[in-house]
Amino acid sequence: MKITSDFLIIGSGIAGLSFALKVADEGSVSIITKREVYETSTNYAQGGIATVFSEDDSFEAHAEDTMVAGAQLSHRDIVDIVVESGPKAIQDLIDIGADFTKNNDGEYDLTREGGHSHRRILHASDITGREIERALAAAVAKHPNITVYEYHCAVDLITEAKARQRRLPEDLCLGAYVLDSKNNEVITFGAQVTVLASGGAGKVYLYTSNPDIASGDGVAMAYRAGASIANMEFMQFHPTTLYHPHAKSFLISEAVRGEGAILKRADGTAFMEKYHKLKDLAPRDIVARAIDNEMKVNGDDCVFLDMTHQSEDYIRDRFPNIHETLLKYGIDMAKEPIPVVPAAHYLCGGVQVDNHGQTAIKNLFAIGEVSCTGLHGANRLASNSLLEGAVFGERAAVKAIETISKETHEFPQVEPWDCGSAIDSDEEVVVTHNWNEIRLCMWNYVGIVRSDKRLTRALRRIRMIQEEISDYYWDFYITSDLLELRNLATVAELIVRCALERKESRGLHYTIDYPETDDIHCKKDTVIRKTF
Ligand code: FAD
Ligand code: SIN
Repeated sequence: MKITSDFLIIGSGIAGLSFALKVADEGSVSIITKREVYETSTNYAQGGIATVFSEDDSFEAHAEDTMVAGAQLSHRDIVDIVVESGPKAIQDLIDIGADFTKNNDGEYDLTREGGHSHRRILHASDITGREIERALAAAVAKHPNITVYEYHCAVDLITEAKARQRRLPEDLCLGAYVLDSKNNEVITFGAQVTVLASGGAGKVYLYTSNPDIASGDGVAMAYRAGASIANMEFMQFHPTTLYHPHAKSFLISEAVRGEGAILKRADGTAFMEKYHKLKDLAPRDIVARAIDNEMKVNGDDCVFLDMTHQSEDYIRDRFPNIHETLLKYGIDMAKEPIPVVPAAHYLCGGVQVDNHGQTAIKNLFAIGEVSCTGLHGANRLASNSLLEGAVFGERAAVKAIETISKETHEFPQVEPWDCGSAIDSDEEVVVTHNWNEIRLCMWNYVGIVRSDKRLTRALRRIRMIQEEISDYYWDFYITSDLLELRNLATVAELIVRCALERKESRGLHYTIDYPETDDIHCKKDTVIRKTF
């Protein structure tokens, strides 16, 4: 089966849906998404979306905070573009119906998070992402030119080189093979422009704040197709996810610290003062490393986040979702400190793009968490991710419309997906075992504190698993679990290879072998590209 459209978008989070709305008047749009349309990281975002919205704040201050959090590896030109485009991008969300929280004076309530010198985070209570996703998905559903394909999982990109089975000086993206996971059928989606908006890769680690869809598919597909991948060593660990045997790394928003909560040891001693002048509101890499250190030194399983100085009414009003969820686990945050641990949260690296989201492959764009624009450098500033998704959704749309108005390509004869000697797998448990092995290996050897020895050990194990997957992949019928496993293994490999290349400690990459930051030799992106 073959479906063609002008724009194929892989992913239905803030980046993909923003792009879709901006191009839909100019051509037909297909959005494919692994589960239901709203099952995205966007939907789980809590804290908010950062932008300069108050008189006493400035673009310069937001840009400077972004550079400092990014350990000076952020690209200043991109930082300026994103920061300065912020107010309009957020106004666009408001215009389609996103309802951000206002204060008693009727003005947008601006909250604060780690690394921000000003209150500049718009939020919808503590479920900001749900509100943004709701507004975007409602607008998309109303547009006659947009078709959403739920439960469709992209398998691989189709490029001209692949279709013609020869090497080309400049490759062109023609669409993607997509598994319709309800009907177990691989469909060829052809498009003039293909957009990766497939989100992050938290699932490559054992503990993560991310939903299940975050398996790094976009990065892995782009790498296999020959695009450049950058800065994969910078996986951000969120300092505070709930530590509870039955909670799957539920996030306790940084806005909780923004509104005064204090990190404490089990004995009640506050400890962040020892690590940074901004204490509990230091950038995320510093807070996560501090917690990791406290847990190791004291032999504790978690630390505690204390907000008991605030009244129950205030907490219920400001953090209703967090308060309610914690109650279900038997924790009343108004009366007792919350047990927390760090967990993998955000991929700062990804598919390398220019300032319009264009990748190294013609007519292939990457936007949102899957991309590496240069905004986040070595560590993302809190609440800059939703902002980047909205801003680059628009920027890529402008470029994509220009691209198809200048030149359209014929869709060449593309071979349908070859299932080879596929038979139904009777060994699906192997997938689960390999999956667990990768995630545990990454957690143990490629976590918050690294060393060359541990990274090398991890790479050896990942390569062994990759060999097994490769046998398995071509022998058995593909399922979305098997696709994710292959992608997780590729992403794990890319993270370790980038980490091994960075012979310094900077932002989220901390190694005991090179504990200093080396601006002379290492102040540059780590870029990897597959050789064919
Ligand atoms: P996502 O929203 O993750 O969407 C990815 C889409 O791609 C999904 O639709 C998925 O199904 C689809 N997809 C993936 N692979 C495939 C495939 N192979 N085939 C088809 N479809 C595919 N950032 C902030 O700025 N502020 C916050 O307050 C904030 N809080 C957060 C809280 C949590 C718990 C989490 C997990 C993240 C948070 N973040 C926050 C980060 C932010 O939410 C994400 O970085 C951002 O939403 C990513 O948007 P996206 O559009 O790039 O991808
Ligand atoms: C949070 O609410 O702490 C998440 C904010 C972010 O990831 O930017």
